[in-house]
Amino acid sequence: MTHNTITIDGQEVPFEVGQTIMDAALAAKVYIPHLCHYPGLTPHGNCRLCSIEIGKKSVAACTTPAVAGQQISSNTPAINAARKSITQMLFIEGNHICPSCEKSGNCKLQAMGYFLGMLDEHFPQFYQRRKIDASHADIVLDRDRCILCDLCVRASREVDGKNVFAIAGRGTEAHLIVNSSSGKLVDSNLEVDDLAANICPVGAILKKSQGYDVPIGERIYDQHTISEIGLQESIAKESKSDDN
Ligand code: SF4
Ligand code: FES
Repeated sequence: MTHNTITIDGQEVPFEVGQTIMDAALAAKVYIPHLCHYPGLTPHGNCRLCSIEIGKKSVAACTTPAVAGQQISSNTPAINAARKSITQMLFIEGNHICPSCEKSGNCKLQAMGYFLGMLDEHFPQFYQRRKIDASHADIVLDRDRCILCDLCVRASREVDGKNVFAIAGRGTEAHLIVNSSSGKLVDSNLEVDDLAANICPVGAILKKSQGYDVPIGERIYDQHTISEIGLQESIAKESKSDDN
């Protein structure tokens, strides 16, 4: 295996040929903010939170291959300001009313807002009105909270082998659809232990009968930053693949 290095914010980071900049960074415990990246799933480049600069060019770290000698900027005030604006746009594009959402404290979008120092939504609210699907016995889908990260789509296809979800429509019309004859979750083969039912970074796909099991104040991001959790997820995935 060939080992090479890239430089991120002045730090040398080794990579293996074929790795993306995101994979190399996380393996070296260098956190690059991300919402639609998940270790082991094909990167999709949806959220743009992982935007970095190579020279003057802005690219997504999760989809850009690492190439020896790349000089990368990531943790700069300007790039983080752009990431904060993207996060604010994600907030206003859906209904993310944290105090009334049972995902609060476990939500990656909320944690990203805290991480980037977001104090308000800045942009006018869209007040989305997309369909809620509560037809499934164990799982509820609240499309108003979906950030269209595509993680459930990829998890279902690549890990669960099912293809339950897809994203339809464009721009403000884009929304999550369910691959069943009725378009309802109850008629799909989604099961509660599927990765697709457990991967949603926000409160769009939730398990029923589990709300508030863990009290607010004791939840993941009440105790850790999203950077700590992002690195842990990547390391956990790596040690799993080493075991196989
Ligand atoms: Fe992402 Fe959740 Fe929307 Fe699926 S439902 S695309 S995992 S935000
Ligand atoms: Fe790279 Fe979302 S993590 S675009």
